[in-house]
Amino acid sequence: MNTLTITRPDDWHVHLRNGPALADTVSDAARNFGRAMVMPNLAPPIVNITQARSYREQILAARPSGSHWQALMTLYLTDNTSAQDISDAAESGIIYGVKYYPAGATTNSASGVTNIDATDKALEQMQVSGMPLQIHGEVTDPDIDIFDREAVFIERILVPLVQRFPELKIILEHVTTRDAVAFVSDSNSNIAATITPQHLLFNRNHLLAGGIRPHYYCLPVLKRDVHQKVLIAAASSGNKKFFLGTDSAPHSKSSKESACGCAGCYSHHAAIELYAEAFSRAEALDKLEGFASHFGADYYGLPRNTETITLRHEPWQLPQSSKLGNEAMVPLSAGEQLQWQVIDGAL
Ligand code: NCD
Ligand code: ZN
Repeated sequence: MNTLTITRPDDWHVHLRNGPALADTVSDAARNFGRAMVMPNLAPPIVNITQARSYREQILAARPSGSHWQALMTLYLTDNTSAQDISDAAESGIIYGVKYYPAGATTNSASGVTNIDATDKALEQMQVSGMPLQIHGEVTDPDIDIFDREAVFIERILVPLVQRFPELKIILEHVTTRDAVAFVSDSNSNIAATITPQHLLFNRNHLLAGGIRPHYYCLPVLKRDVHQKVLIAAASSGNKKFFLGTDSAPHSKSSKESACGCAGCYSHHAAIELYAEAFSRAEALDKLEGFASHFGADYYGLPRNTETITLRHEPWQLPQSSKLGNEAMVPLSAGEQLQWQVIDGAL
C-alpha cells in the first residue's frame, strides 16, 4: 500500500495556549484536522463561558484564511464550578466538555479539583445535560510512585465516580497503562479514552535510557513497553472506545531543557503522520481511519467530517526545531524520519 486516503481526522485533546503562540499552534492544528477539542488550562484557566467565548475568538482570529477548522471549547472544572456554570455551558453551543485536573497533577493545574466530592453538584448537572467529563487520570499523592499514578487514580477515584454517576459521559484522557485500557474496555459505552502519538511510539526507555531526554517528558509519563504494546493493540483494535487525542502541548526549548523541565510533548507539527507511523509499524494502517476520524466524532455525537486527506508512503525528515511565538521549540521526534506524509487535503 503506497497511499492511504481517510476521512479528515479530528483531534479530541490539544493545548493551543494563548498570546503569540496561537499563530503557530492554530495553523498547525488546522493543517490536517477538521476540529480540535481545546484544553482550558491557561493561566488563569477557562472556567466560564464568558472566558471560553473570548478565548475561542482569539483562536479563530489566528486561523489561516480560508480554513473551516473548528475549535471545540472546554471548561476547567474547579471546586467552585456550579450547576449553573454547567447548564450555561450546555446551552452555549460552543462548549463540548469539562476538563477535570486533580490540583497539581500537571502543567497549569493549580486551580484544579482538590476533592472530587466537592464537585458533585457540577457532575450531577453534567450527567443531566449530557456534558462529557474529560479526565486527567492521575493521583497527586506524593507517596504514590509517578509510574503508578494512573492505575491508582482508576482504583481510588474513577471506579467510585462511575458508580456514583453511571450515566455521566467520561473520557479518560491520554491513557498510558494496560490498567486504563482494561478499565475502559470493560466499562459501559459512556466511558471512552484518547491515546497520544507519544504513548504509541515510545516507552520510558526513550525518556531515560542513555541520558535524560526532556522532549519525551509529558504527563502521564511514558510507561514500560508492556503498556505501550497494550496501547497499540487498543488503538488498532477497531474498538470505538479508543480514539485520537494528541495532547499536543507546546513548551519552549528553554523551559524543557532545564533542571526542572516542564511536562508536555508537541506533536502538531506532524500529528497524523506520527499516528500513521505507529499504525504502520503495527501493520494496522487499515484501522487508522476509525481511530483518527470516526470514533471521536461518534462518541461526542457530532457528524463525521466529509472531506478526506491522503497520505503517501515516502520517508521524510522532521525538522530539528520549530517556532512557538517568539521562542524556539523542539517538537516530538525532532530530526527523526517518518515513513508517511500527507500529500493531499492539507491546508
Ligand atoms: C499538558 C500541558 O503542557 O498543558 N502537559 C502534558 O504533559 N500533557 C497538560 C496535560 O495535559 O497534562
Ligand atoms: Zn493535555
